[in-house]
Amino acid sequence: MNEPLLSSSAEPEAAPQKKAHVIVLGNEKGGSGKTTSGMHLIVSLLRLGFSVGSMDIDSRQRSLSRYLENRRQTSLKENVPLPQPQHVVVQRSPFGVVAEAEADERERFSKALGRIMAANDFIVIDSPGSDTHLSRLAHAHADTVITPINDSFVDLDVLATVDGQTMKIVKPSIYSEMVWEQKLARAKRDGGSIEWIVMRNRLSNIDAKNKRFMTQATAELSRRIGFRVAPGFSERVIFREMFLQGLTVLDIMEAGNSGGMSLSHVAARQEVRDLLRTLRIPLLDERIKLRSESEEKKEPVKEDAAKEVDR
Ligand SMILES: Nc1ncnc2c1ncn2[C@@H]1O[C@H](COP(=O)(O)OP(=O)(O)OP(=O)(O)O)[C@@H](O)[C@H]1O
Ligand SMILES: [Mg+2]
Repeated sequence: MNEPLLSSSAEPEAAPQKKAHVIVLGNEKGGSGKTTSGMHLIVSLLRLGFSVGSMDIDSRQRSLSRYLENRRQTSLKENVPLPQPQHVVVQRSPFGVVAEAEADERERFSKALGRIMAANDFIVIDSPGSDTHLSRLAHAHADTVITPINDSFVDLDVLATVDGQTMKIVKPSIYSEMVWEQKLARAKRDGGSIEWIVMRNRLSNIDAKNKRFMTQATAELSRRIGFRVAPGFSERVIFREMFLQGLTVLDIMEAGNSGGMSLSHVAARQEVRDLLRTLRIPLLDERIKLRSESEEKKEPVKEDAAKEVDR
């Protein structure tokens, strides 16, 4: 059991009528891989045949929105059918008074979520790398929160302050406290629970010592703070190189071009699938199993693919 390190003062929010499973990519640190993971989740869910709604609440950067616009353009220009999510952007409130701005944002968020909730199996929300009211609202409505962290000691502090000598947790971070508060708010609001998953991102095989330390530290933190650890994504060119085309490795592979795929591409797809499996959503597990069985019949599994990294 996790120690009750954290207590709640968060107000429960009014929830729109529920249907889709809501996944929020969150981490108050910038550049940890929220948008990259979000893009890959969206495309993999679409490619598995699910209907997906997506929401961009990072209205300053709008990276997810730009990616999806690039995807639409590629589909039009190249005349290739590419599955698309139903996308909405929620802007920050222009009001200067905090209470008014928060009420305005609550309304904007609920309306946008309501628009995509009923028609989709999954909703994927990309949040900014900072603490905003919209980000807190998104976390409060999540069924699953995924927090990508760069695989370095520096990024551990988004979860907790850790004593470098003893490896003991000094205190949970503000972000961990926020997730905890939203968990309690969610339970109070509708009896639901938020599953929190931390995924290490940009894993490299070069620094084995760092990798070992991070494995140990995240395992310890997961017990104390209450999240599960996902296997994560390696550092791979394929995870970033097709942003301007709005494509992912899953598009290329599923479009039947798998002949030209490298082992690293196969491994990248496997990492995305492993992330999906870590979510432990029965509907999703069933679909992945069916898909894997039919793929195995078509192409034999390459044993060493998962170990392959970009050079
Ligand atoms: N596994 C990976 N392999 C290679 N490059 C990656 C990987 N994950 C992320 N990147 C790259 O790292 C940079 C930051 O990633 P991303 O934009 O997804 O982070 P973010 O958390 O959304 O950032 P922000 O907080 O600014 O919104 C991008 O250039 C992205 O292409
Ligand atoms: Mg981003």
